Amino acid sequence: MLTIRDLTSDDVAGVVAAVQRDQRIAHRRNRFVNGALDRDELTEALARRRARTWIARDGDRLVGHLTATSLSESSRGPSAWISPDAVSFDRPTTLARLYAEAGEQWISDGVLEHVAWVYDRPDAREPWLDLNFAVMFRRGSRALNTPRETRLPSGYEGRWASLDDLDLAVALTKVIDEAEARGPSFVAEAPLDRDELAATLEDPDTMYYVVEHAGEAVAQCIAFPLLPVRGAYPRTLHLSAVVVQREHRGRGVATAMLNDVLTGARNRGFDYVDVTWRTANSAAAAFWTAYGLTPTYVRLRRLVDRR
Ligand SMILES: CC(C)(COP(=O)(O)OP(=O)(O)OC[C@H]1O[C@@H](n2cnc3c(N)ncnc32)[C@H](O)[C@@H]1OP(=O)(O)O)[C@@H](O)C(=O)NCCC(=O)NCCS
Repeated sequence: MLTIRDLTSDDVAGVVAAVQRDQRIAHRRNRFVNGALDRDELTEALARRRARTWIARDGDRLVGHLTATSLSESSRGPSAWISPDAVSFDRPTTLARLYAEAGEQWISDGVLEHVAWVYDRPDAREPWLDLNFAVMFRRGSRALNTPRETRLPSGYEGRWASLDDLDLAVALTKVIDEAEARGPSFVAEAPLDRDELAATLEDPDTMYYVVEHAGEAVAQCIAFPLLPVRGAYPRTLHLSAVVVQREHRGRGVATAMLNDVLTGARNRGFDYVDVTWRTANSAAAAFWTAYGLTPTYVRLRRLVDRR
């Protein structure tokens, strides 16, 4: 019989083993998920964890766990963030039972936005979709060991840019928000934080690249090292704020620009590239697929109705 209860110190080793098993499976099925796991670090993190963690047991077998970190990132109030190692389950019904308990607690704490990063595989994703979660973002990766031909269309010129180009970065990043405000994304425009963008460009690890046409900047890419997160390889470059001005799209500008950026990244010692895109941004989804990224994770979200 399935029972749900709070984690005790006796459960920690079982949870670590479940997370490790899931990560190994994820790596076997998708080489872009790093299978390496620091068991001691995870054991310590679980032991130190202040957030409540629920455990599912079937008799004396541990068959699942669920926990979340509370974040206040959106105007909607706090959200519960479930990372890939914050959950395991043997069957969809186990996840449903765990979420029933955990969700009840989060909701009574006023946390109505529930977000989960899960492996982008049907068996990992679908039990969540049945619980009314929806896919919001997809993450994908590519190795940098395959050199690519670099050729911007004639009339276009690429260059490395810097904090001196902050006004440009602000203007071009705004174009992404404008594109995503339209359908099919329909995203409420988030106010662009100029100081945050300045801090990113100021960082010596940031790579900022701009493409010009007739003396005007028409495309950009901002890239920086991906923070060490579970499932990502070290020396992974994160691409952010990739955009081409509307009237210059469909000519191969983004493809050639990224080839320049990734050649630069390879020369700096990066092995992989990682991108997150909004699944409803159909141009971005088609572009990243065409560019050869292999999906690794999806970010799911459920907004619970106020009672
Ligand atoms: C996504 C974006 C950067 C692509 O720029 P681009 O210069 O038009 O892309 P390319 O011309 O290099 O396209 C390469 C391939 O991607 C695919 N692609 C690009 N845009 C596409 C679209 N709108 N619909 C379908 N496929 C598309 C195609 O396969 C294309 O190859 P093809 O032209 O031979 O068919 C551009 O549409 C853009 O700036 N969009 C708004 C901002 C944005 O959403 N950025 C991404 C944030 S994650």
